[in-house]
Amino acid sequence: MNMLKQAILQKGVVLSDGVLKVDSFLNHQIDPTLQVDIGNEFAKRFDEVEITKILTIESSGIAPALTTAIQLKVPVVFARKKKSLTLSSNLLTAQVYSFTKKETNEITVSRDFILEGDKVLIIDDFLANGEAALGLASLVEQARATVSGIGIVIEKSFQPGREKLQNAGYRVESLARIASLENNTVRFVEQLVTNN
Ligand code: G4P
Repeated sequence: MNMLKQAILQKGVVLSDGVLKVDSFLNHQIDPTLQVDIGNEFAKRFDEVEITKILTIESSGIAPALTTAIQLKVPVVFARKKKSLTLSSNLLTAQVYSFTKKETNEITVSRDFILEGDKVLIIDDFLANGEAALGLASLVEQARATVSGIGIVIEKSFQPGREKLQNAGYRVESLARIASLENNTVRFVEQLVTNN
């Protein structure tokens, strides 16, 4: 059992059939040792792919994006959910609807940091409905750059995010794939496969 899955099982709290709380190590308090392990694993999985930049979205995507970027020796850019005071023109923008929060955010990145020809690895902490990742991919494509792949720390495989991203032609690598949170229990996809 790897470090991430162990943390999910030991420290994650199932709030409902659809929501896993992981704020003691991923979403609020951050476990640096785990983040380094996550960065190493993403770097390994995308080892053979050309990557010139990592793109994530504030806030919880930044830590795993950074540890991955340290391994791959490329810069990290994070999309903002709120307009920055100093960032007002020359922007790439996309609308991202959150089914979880029932709100739409306009996400933005400066055109100075995603350039035509860039090969971009997208990293995010959660994959649920795929809207954030699709929004990030749209920013990359608006810049005439290429999405090299999408790395997700925790995928809720019972929601349609992975399928949407794959149908759009993107490679998705998720470090922990959760098949179900029913009955207050975390079940991983691999566990189901092994048990069958
Ligand atoms: P989507 O992008 O895949 O469509 O996901 P969705 O809109 O449903 O999720 C919106 C926010 O809720 C995202 O965080 C996402 O990471 C988070 N989220 C979704 N499902 C879960 C869950 O089961 N557990 C936890 N802990 N978070 C979940 P965000 O608002 O961008 O937060 P942050 O990055 O600023 O921390």
